[in-house]
Amino acid sequence: MARNHWVLLCLALCNAAGLGSSTFKFASYYSDHMVLQQGAQGAIVWGTASHLREKVQLYLNGHTVGDGTHTFNSSGVITWMAKVSVTGSDYGPYTIAAKSSEGTITLHDVMFGDVWVCSGQSNMEFTMGGLVNSSAEYVEASNYSNIRIFKSQHAQSSVELHDFSVALVTPWSVPTRANLGRFSAVCWLFGKRLSSQFKYPIGLVESNWGGTKIEWWSSTSALSKCPTHGKRAIQNSDLWNAMMSPLTRNTIYGAIWYQGESNAGAYELYSCQFPAMIKDWRQKFSVNSLHTTSMEFPFGFVQLAPHRNGSEVKSIPSLRWAQTAGYGTVPNAKMPNTFMSVTLDLPDFNSPYGSIHPRFKHDVAARLALSALGVAYHRSGLEFQGPFPSEYRLTGHSLNIEYNQGRAPITVFANASNFEVCCSATKCDKNFGNWKPAPMTSHHISSVTLNTSQCGQVAVSAVRYAWRESPCLLKRCEVYGRDTELPGPPFYHSFH
Ligand SMILES: *[C@@H]1O[C@H](CO)[C@@H](O)[C@H](O)[C@H]1NC(C)=O
Ligand SMILES: *[C@@H]1O[C@H](CO)[C@@H](O)[C@H](O)[C@H]1NC(C)=O
Ligand SMILES: *[C@@H]1O[C@H](CO)[C@@H](O)[C@H](O)[C@H]1NC(C)=O
Ligand SMILES: *[C@@H]1O[C@H](CO)[C@@H](O)[C@H](O)[C@H]1NC(C)=O
Ligand SMILES: *[C@@H]1O[C@H](CO)[C@@H](O)[C@H](O)[C@H]1NC(C)=O
Ligand SMILES: *[C@@H]1O[C@H](CO)[C@@H](O)[C@H](O)[C@H]1NC(C)=O
Repeated sequence: MARNHWVLLCLALCNAAGLGSSTFKFASYYSDHMVLQQGAQGAIVWGTASHLREKVQLYLNGHTVGDGTHTFNSSGVITWMAKVSVTGSDYGPYTIAAKSSEGTITLHDVMFGDVWVCSGQSNMEFTMGGLVNSSAEYVEASNYSNIRIFKSQHAQSSVELHDFSVALVTPWSVPTRANLGRFSAVCWLFGKRLSSQFKYPIGLVESNWGGTKIEWWSSTSALSKCPTHGKRAIQNSDLWNAMMSPLTRNTIYGAIWYQGESNAGAYELYSCQFPAMIKDWRQKFSVNSLHTTSMEFPFGFVQLAPHRNGSEVKSIPSLRWAQTAGYGTVPNAKMPNTFMSVTLDLPDFNSPYGSIHPRFKHDVAARLALSALGVAYHRSGLEFQGPFPSEYRLTGHSLNIEYNQGRAPITVFANASNFEVCCSATKCDKNFGNWKPAPMTSHHISSVTLNTSQCGQVAVSAVRYAWRESPCLLKRCEVYGRDTELPGPPFYHSFH
């Protein structure tokens, strides 16, 4: 008790004495109102100091945390890293102090909960202000003060940075009308969904940039895992270096990602680049945070939405497929512990932000959060994926497709024409070949039957579903989960 009083006194006096203005400080990620990752593995708190091998002691509500830590030389920056762990249901608010011979620095109103990073391009950057009912959302946000938000600033660097090089757009804050208006809609709505499921706080870390390619968010080691497109100039890691690497020492629970439109022109590469980037992020976040972030942290993403109507465009369907590394559904062997929001049925061609930016972010986030509950939070017995084929039976001019091993009923809208078969004696490419519509003749509790007579005497070589940029009217693709209302993702299956 006496020691606590001394610390509190020092907090007041040492700061008043101006000692806090030395190079002894927290990294720019750390500030009042932040969320630190809960759990026994601990959360990293780090910063800089003036002297090498100086001792830094951390305090949680005045109680010492561990035995103190020594500063070290990190590429010329005198750095200290400490770990604090909070388990159980006392989520905060806490006061965290760090003390060295240079003085004492403090963080107030610190909560412990789950920290999620939100990254990608413009559809992740799409703000709450762009929602049709943003005003109602701002009012409701006052009920979610347990969610704290953080937003980085656009920045580029040719070398990997440990800390942000430019001022933040929004340092850790309690949500308000003003800061939510410029915050990511998908990130906030995802966090809000999780928050309504759990009692503990949620920290949302937004770091994204419209119009950007995956190469820019990938470190040089991630890029080295995949072939390049022969255009070396665009293969760089500038955003990884300046906007993601500075987050890697901090402990996080998981990440969500909405990106791919800018890579649709080179979709063949994406099925290598995307899993490689996820693996590399996991490794870098884990190693740099002294393994307080899991080496297999959950990674969620949004499969691309419709964009243009009219002419057949193969790049978006192919990119959607590449987003699953060619499996059609996640998690899979190449993408373990990942989850996906399928959005091919959310066209908004009249969006004032351009048809590439559909405004249905509530649906995007609800589907993402549901799949997060299944994958990232291991909720048992939860149906969190849309229907996906488990068996194909070809008999005569009929193809029967069973979904999800028949264990979940489906809802079918039979008025689009998204099933196609390729009539060929040899293997068919996903995009090219003798593709013909295969009308649905009937559907059952968990299967559909297609008419393949268009192939005549030629064999059915492959089947594909929703292989269009904009396959259907709003929420009216053919196949949905009856209980989840999740759309079935697009697929391609070859019988060769
Ligand atoms: C820290 O390391 C850098 C090289 O990374 C070196 O130039 C510098 O002298 C070191 N500083 C101290 C105080 O040892
Ligand atoms: C905003 O609209 C979406 C549906 O479009 C709805 O799910 C959500 O609850 C609404 N938000 C508020 C705060 O009313
Ligand atoms: C906030 O939560 C309370 C209690 O659950 C509820 O009565 C109220 O309607 C909510 N306010 C808004 C704006 O959603
Ligand atoms: C589409 O099909 C559903 C049922 O399969 C039906 O209820 C609906 O009226 C149809 N809509 C149109 C536009 O044909
Ligand atoms: C399949 O379509 C053909 C016309 O392409 C039609 O003659 C045949 O009756 C259909 N079969 C079924 C089972 O609907
Ligand atoms: C796309 O265009 C076709 C043909 O004009 C139309 O039938 C369909 O409803 C349109 N799709 C959407 C989602 O508006």
